[in-house]
Amino acid sequence: MRKIGILTGGGDCPGLNAVIRGVVQKCLINDIEVIGLKQGWKGALTGDCVPLTLNDVEDILTLGGTILQSSRTNILKVENGPERVREMMNRLELEGIVAVGGDDTLGVANQLQKMGMKMIGVPKTIDNDLSCTDYTFGFDTATNTAAEAIDRLHTTAKSHNRCFVVEVMGRNTGWIAIQAGMAAAAHIILIPEFPKSIDEVVDMIEERRKMNKNYCIICVAEGFELTGMDSVEIERDDFGNIRLDKKEIGPRLAKLIEERTGMNTRATVLGHIIRGGSPTAFDRLLGTKLGVKAGELVVANKYGYMVALQGTSIVPVPLAKALSKQKRVDEEFYNAASLFGRWDEHTVEPVEEHVSAVY
Ligand code: F6P
Repeated sequence: MRKIGILTGGGDCPGLNAVIRGVVQKCLINDIEVIGLKQGWKGALTGDCVPLTLNDVEDILTLGGTILQSSRTNILKVENGPERVREMMNRLELEGIVAVGGDDTLGVANQLQKMGMKMIGVPKTIDNDLSCTDYTFGFDTATNTAAEAIDRLHTTAKSHNRCFVVEVMGRNTGWIAIQAGMAAAAHIILIPEFPKSIDEVVDMIEERRKMNKNYCIICVAEGFELTGMDSVEIERDDFGNIRLDKKEIGPRLAKLIEERTGMNTRATVLGHIIRGGSPTAFDRLLGTKLGVKAGELVVANKYGYMVALQGTSIVPVPLAKALSKQKRVDEEFYNAASLFGRWDEHTVEPVEEHVSAVY
């Protein structure tokens, strides 16, 4: 009987279980056994694994996280890492591995594929920054959760004439910040693609205040850079990624804004809250479709590809091509999203702030 492995690596995200279920269903129906490797590439090194049955995956579609668990193990940094994976594959008689992950996990899969091990990639990240795919699963859930949180901050910000800085995940790109910020009518959106100085941020807040808009919601991606500030040395993970939770851009920004404007300012860091919980219907469907397509490629013995959403179709894209560049927010989108915090004194009369004007 043919046999494959499947693993989920990197930061978990809603929809991972939908992918696992899709792969297992497609493969088992075609008489291909599926072995779950535990904790991402760590399980591929140690051989810690579990056979997956239809029974195991029947009820996991709506669950967040991953039943296989995850880690940020970089086997390319482990002595004889790739060879140990090859030995494990031979020992378990795995013809290939379906790796579900972001650029780090898929980068490893790509290297192993080049070394002759058969790999299929499934794009996963709440950050939505992988190219060749219109969306990654998990992003929609994270965006909805963040948008709901920002909705809630609007009412308390208005009630107290406060500025709120809400920090969301987004290491290198601002997809969550821009989409959640735009969907929840944030006044200022700050993302890694468009660094700004504290003066520019303060000017935007003051532009609103001139029109008696004495509250403000700022949505900032954790990877946003304030220009003109000293960079600080921050700890990195196994893949060399900065621990952005230690950078604390939201709280730092809030402190600077309060100092510069005198506005009562608070920071809210959403952090891992937006990565947890049950996937939205969109992510359940996308995860399922990607999983089934990955299973289809296994059945056809077609390795070396990442499955991707392009328009309404799920298509295979060569792994190396999918990893060649990052998908970033472009200027046109950023300008459109930034429009809604602007006030033009020439067209709008300033109004006295009073209760009926607020609500
Ligand atoms: O997986 C991507 C991501 O969610 C980033 O947005 C974030 O910077 C990072 O993971 C956080 O990683 P960890 O869970 O290791 O703190």
